Amino acid sequence: MFCVNHYTTKIARHATLRLSAKSYEYDRDLSEAEEGDSPTTAISNQRAVAWGLRRLLNWIKEEYGDPEIYITENGVATESKTTWDDSARVFFYKTYIDEALKAYDLDGVKVKGYTVTSLMDSFEWLNGYKLGFGLHHVDFTNPNRPRTPKYSAHFYYQVIRDNGFPTPDDEKMLYGHFRKDFIWSTATASYQIEGGWRADGKGLSIWDKFAHTPLRVFNDDNGDIACDSYNKVEEDVAILKQLKVTHYRFSISWSRVLPDGTTKYINEPGLNYYHRLVDALLAANIQPHITLYHWDLPQALQDIGGWENETIIFKFRDYADLIFSRLGHKVKFWITINEPYNIANVGHGYGAAAPGISFRPGTLPYIVGHHLLKAHAEAWHLYNEKYRAKQKGIISITINSDWSEPRNPYKQEDIDAARRVVQFYIGWFAHPIFNGDYSDMMKTIIRERSLAAGLPKSRLPEFSPEEIKRIKGTYDYFGFNHYTTVLAFPVDYGNLQHYDADRGAGTIADRTWLDSGSSWLKVSPFGFRRILNFIKEEYGNPPIIITENGISERGSIDLNDIHRSYYYEKYINQVLKAYLLDDVDIRGYTAWSLMDNLEWATGFSERFGLFYVNRSDPKLPRVAKTSVAQYSTIINCNGFPDPASGSHECLNPEPEGTSAPITDDTVQFLGMKLSTSDAETGLNTTFALLIVAVFAAVCSSFCFFKARKQHRKNSMWKL
Ligand code: BGC
Repeated sequence: MFCVNHYTTKIARHATLRLSAKSYEYDRDLSEAEEGDSPTTAISNQRAVAWGLRRLLNWIKEEYGDPEIYITENGVATESKTTWDDSARVFFYKTYIDEALKAYDLDGVKVKGYTVTSLMDSFEWLNGYKLGFGLHHVDFTNPNRPRTPKYSAHFYYQVIRDNGFPTPDDEKMLYGHFRKDFIWSTATASYQIEGGWRADGKGLSIWDKFAHTPLRVFNDDNGDIACDSYNKVEEDVAILKQLKVTHYRFSISWSRVLPDGTTKYINEPGLNYYHRLVDALLAANIQPHITLYHWDLPQALQDIGGWENETIIFKFRDYADLIFSRLGHKVKFWITINEPYNIANVGHGYGAAAPGISFRPGTLPYIVGHHLLKAHAEAWHLYNEKYRAKQKGIISITINSDWSEPRNPYKQEDIDAARRVVQFYIGWFAHPIFNGDYSDMMKTIIRERSLAAGLPKSRLPEFSPEEIKRIKGTYDYFGFNHYTTVLAFPVDYGNLQHYDADRGAGTIADRTWLDSGSSWLKVSPFGFRRILNFIKEEYGNPPIIITENGISERGSIDLNDIHRSYYYEKYINQVLKAYLLDDVDIRGYTAWSLMDNLEWATGFSERFGLFYVNRSDPKLPRVAKTSVAQYSTIINCNGFPDPASGSHECLNPEPEGTSAPITDDTVQFLGMKLSTSDAETGLNTTFALLIVAVFAAVCSSFCFFKARKQHRKNSMWKL
């Protein structure tokens, strides 16, 4: 048998080292570096590089004749002061043991056993008692040396009990169908796709200004042209038909219709674009689901204070009034405001989105949030009183939220932190609308922290009893955007007056969750079902329309987007579980996004689309990624038919639904991935160079022979 101890992986590169002094170090002729993408540990130079274990095991298999292997040591150090709350060690074992499992199960390496180092904290050679590798903490200040199991001990116990990592029940596929009239949709937003930023009298929005301010948006990208949807109604409707969605969610650019934000002047050509879009959708039997406000406030309104200025509430109502009166006879589904959390906190607290304000993070987000809630309520009442009877539509707000779990499930402080994260996120806006007023948790924490800092009153504005009543119940459904889950733990920010400090929590992701193209988005489907259940319990079982859910990628183009198909299958299946097993009242699902578009401050670098938009072609063609066929099959089946009950018609899409042949218009050329037109240029250039080279070769051999002849001649002359 082969016994191996293993801890870390380094990146080696060739180096020519000195011949003397004679040493093992110099004999190796290499230099070692840390693997920069992997987490650091308490020992410098020893990163947690789990994938290295699998490679090492395979190496032993190939190099030493496929022996039976016992991993006789593997572990990670934490500072002794960490005591029992060692989630870093849990992640270490989770990832390393999983790599050993891959070596065994997928690569056929004969892994016979695994040994954790160490049972308990102990004398760590040169590090003394400063660090510990133990599953148990030992109190070296106590003469009895008591041992306390750490979080990692509980975790390792489960791994031994399960002999690995069986798929948890809540991650297994459920077969079944959604309700008959289920809404299947996909979404976009005006600034992200329309372009035409100055077309036909459109006014500027805060996103036009933000994106035209250097360093605000990655790569200085902007939405001047974006996907040019302003000029591509037919193309957009064609790809929606290809997807077979029943609904399409898009937003109206306020400043395209009302250039200065007020009804003083109505820009008819701008409004006409939405008429054409709605008509084309209806002709294709696709219901429009319109968002009135998806972040692009008219700049003219920002100039007088934007969402901070209370008068915005009635300006928003007037804008809504205009849109209902002009489009409402054709549109049955409305969203007032998309993601008030992002508008308030990202735009006015962190400043990472327009209008980009970050210098009053303890007050401004709450003021803005307050006005957003009131503006939403006014628009809802307006529709309810003036339009509903005639137009017969439904209207609500779209609230977004991550789900949050405790970083250490055995720790009450982490459980409390996870609750705070959720209450400060979804609860900030959902509580006033569905239950009435802000949650007690938010009111108490923000008041206490404000008073403790010497302020005369809470930084969270108060609603009057009338206002509470006016906002409560202003929904026809719960519009919900969801992408990911986080792990929470408490953080004490002292006296800092900031939303983050009020929330008093930090968040991380589980290292085993799959990545996406966005740093904040990790694949964690189980959280979707949990937060849907939370909505049911907390907000009185409202009907829910999921108005966004999706995943991004970045880097080179690959139309075979298996990560997206995987994400949709797993997330939608969790929605099905919430519906069928938990009785959550789910009415619809919307995939974000129809096509790659301007992903706000990260520009075009993060791509959420089901369709790829080829930005190197001026025609901006939309090309189906593989996930298009997969999503339309789920739509066609209205869920997931059970393979055990035989073959299902719905799995074979009808001819008109089949996607256009998926053409990756990139080609391999001299080892590089290039667009066809670039490759063509490359080919022509190579060909031209070849002709020049051949010509040069012919000329030079001609000259050479001529010279030789001449030389001979000369020599002859000399003779
Ligand atoms: C927004 C979208 C955005 C998506 C992905 C949501 O917060 O409503 O506009 O593109 O998330 O980040």
